[in-house]
Amino acid sequence: MANIKKVLASLTIDEKIGQLAQLPPFFFIKDLKKEVSGPLAKLSITEEQVFSAGSVLGIGGPEEMKQVQDAYLAKSTHKIPLMFMADVIHGYKTIFPVPLAIASSWNPSLAKLASKVAAAEASSSGIHVTYAPMADLSRDPRWGRVMEGYGEDGLLAYRMAFAMTEGFQGESLLAEDSIAACVKHFAAYGAVEAGREYNTVDISRYALFNYFLKGYQGAIDAGARLVMTSFNTFEGKPATTNEYLLRHVLREFLNFKGVVISDYDSALETIEHRTSLDQRDVANQAIKAGLDIEMASTTYLKHLKQLIQDKVVPLKLLDEAVLRVLELKNDLGLFENPYKSMSVEKEKSLVYSHAHMDAALKVSLESIVLLKNANQTLPLKKGVKIALLGSHHNTGQLLGPWSWHGDRTLTQTIQSAMTPYGVYFSSAVEDLEQYSKEDLRRLKKADVIVLCTGELESMSGEAHSRANPVMFKHQTEFIKQLKAFGIPIVLVLVNGRPIVLTEVVSHVDAIVETYFLGTQSALAITKTLFGENNPSGKLTMSFPRSVGQIPLYYNHLNTGRPFNGDKKSYTSFYLDEDNEPLFPFGFGLSYTQFQYGTINVSSSLFTPKKPLVISLLVKNAGLLDGFETVQLYVSDLKSEVALPVRELKDFKKVWIKKGKVEKVEFTLTVDQLKYVHSNGDLTWDEGEFVIAVGSSSVHLKSVTVALKKDSK
Ligand code: GLC
Repeated sequence: MANIKKVLASLTIDEKIGQLAQLPPFFFIKDLKKEVSGPLAKLSITEEQVFSAGSVLGIGGPEEMKQVQDAYLAKSTHKIPLMFMADVIHGYKTIFPVPLAIASSWNPSLAKLASKVAAAEASSSGIHVTYAPMADLSRDPRWGRVMEGYGEDGLLAYRMAFAMTEGFQGESLLAEDSIAACVKHFAAYGAVEAGREYNTVDISRYALFNYFLKGYQGAIDAGARLVMTSFNTFEGKPATTNEYLLRHVLREFLNFKGVVISDYDSALETIEHRTSLDQRDVANQAIKAGLDIEMASTTYLKHLKQLIQDKVVPLKLLDEAVLRVLELKNDLGLFENPYKSMSVEKEKSLVYSHAHMDAALKVSLESIVLLKNANQTLPLKKGVKIALLGSHHNTGQLLGPWSWHGDRTLTQTIQSAMTPYGVYFSSAVEDLEQYSKEDLRRLKKADVIVLCTGELESMSGEAHSRANPVMFKHQTEFIKQLKAFGIPIVLVLVNGRPIVLTEVVSHVDAIVETYFLGTQSALAITKTLFGENNPSGKLTMSFPRSVGQIPLYYNHLNTGRPFNGDKKSYTSFYLDEDNEPLFPFGFGLSYTQFQYGTINVSSSLFTPKKPLVISLLVKNAGLLDGFETVQLYVSDLKSEVALPVRELKDFKKVWIKKGKVEKVEFTLTVDQLKYVHSNGDLTWDEGEFVIAVGSSSVHLKSVTVALKKDSK
């Protein structure tokens, strides 16, 4: 390992500043003389500055990584290796379900598995750091990036981000299959107003500390080595130059000691936010706020030296930032081996390997949510005459956003996976008017219609918000046309967000929500439709009845006038819509039926020294073995600031064989009841609490208990 303090002392101020610059890979391998009139000119930086940069954004594979690293080391004066970073969000080449789907498995060990596999493939490709996990809590399905996070609940976000960070980083960053995790986007990017991408975020410190921080905290508690700042403002100040967020909330409250990196140009964009006057002002504000690496823009390269020479910025701030970057490179072992785990052969052996494909299938199978299954339409029996329809039945576009390196031509289609099970008729056309008479005749003879439809990959993800996240008109019309045949319809949804299904829910007999399941989508869907997999997913975002309800989330406040069921009363309701979602947070059906017994508590009074033990019996009363995620919610009946009507405090996913009974037990401690009070203190209060246990945020059994301080 290098002595990084000695390395720091050996650097010139230009070399130090270079370590805080992150540039795209082509700058290092193109003929920069030609580039000078191209992107370089736009950035107005010199070739010397390029070869002083500390890290690279994005990389095209092991060969390119070696080419860039070699070119760089040949020209750099200090010979400190480049660190290579990329977006490895839900898989590298073997693509896993999007994180919103993985979260729907309610199985953090699968999140860890997915990230571990992704890290092994990415590191063999020459990547050292991933810009993941994305832990932005969101309550608004209009936002395109909900697919990238874990949904509307802080505890679930915490546990999933914790698990993914562990998966990426392993036991040590020196390990061959480990890459450093960069949790993002700090902070509260998921709270963009109206779900419109890059829009204003205006939330209170109460909301930030009690809800929106939880996911980032999970990753940081798991040791994430980097944090990426978000595009949005917090309290009117862009996160990238927000000293309160980066030094007080991140470094002090969350005890983060790693590297802070901006999002792409988010430092420069503070000029657009009109909180920075020019690039010199950006550099001055950013370094003082606590930004270490500037991604893509180059205000540090151009202005930091002068700011230090003008005594506007203390050299100490530069040294602290550079030391954090050098420490990360050192912990990755880059000083000893600039190529770390890069290996063309190893990458070839890992990508799409049986082990990795099996892992992807395992995660996909538990990520599927069964939302409706009237008359036991599912599972299908082999040999039934299936009419397999829809835009998504014969395409490899099932990987989802942020799967750049995934190969869609190698992604099995649902049609190909289902063919051995008996596809009698198939068509991707979602309009009966375009069907020939013969097609219609054949279609009407089917035993069951499986309609695979939803959103294109390009309809969610970054810069892809939808003002109207509903089923498309033509899809709704098509389903109504099909309904007229009187044949059971199974709707398989492939989409990047909760969709308003109100128009179609009564016209179909079963609904299977898959989001984007990645490389093994087709096999996972097929195995589920035919009962080889008993679906066990549960929603982690509420599905609205109408767009007008958004933002809609289960852990809402009670208000002073909670709706009392009377739409003539002066209470909180809509004249033209229910308050409740179409499908609630935590909801998901199984092919079997689970029965919940009476909820038992160890005492009606608990204390810090005598935590509450909650237990109940859950019976699998059906004909199939299956997973059930038993959820524990708590309602604080009097708190210093208003708290949610109920909030998830724990969950357990249990496998129960058919006919068997499992005892499920939780221990509730005061730590789980802490919240940030109006004075900023993170503490708990004495008082009464409703303890509720069940299969979703609304299907619950409850009991009231009291919490008191321990008597002296
Ligand atoms: C993008 C995204 C961020 C990503 C980064 C690098 O704009 O906001 O999530 O990691 O740029 O690609």
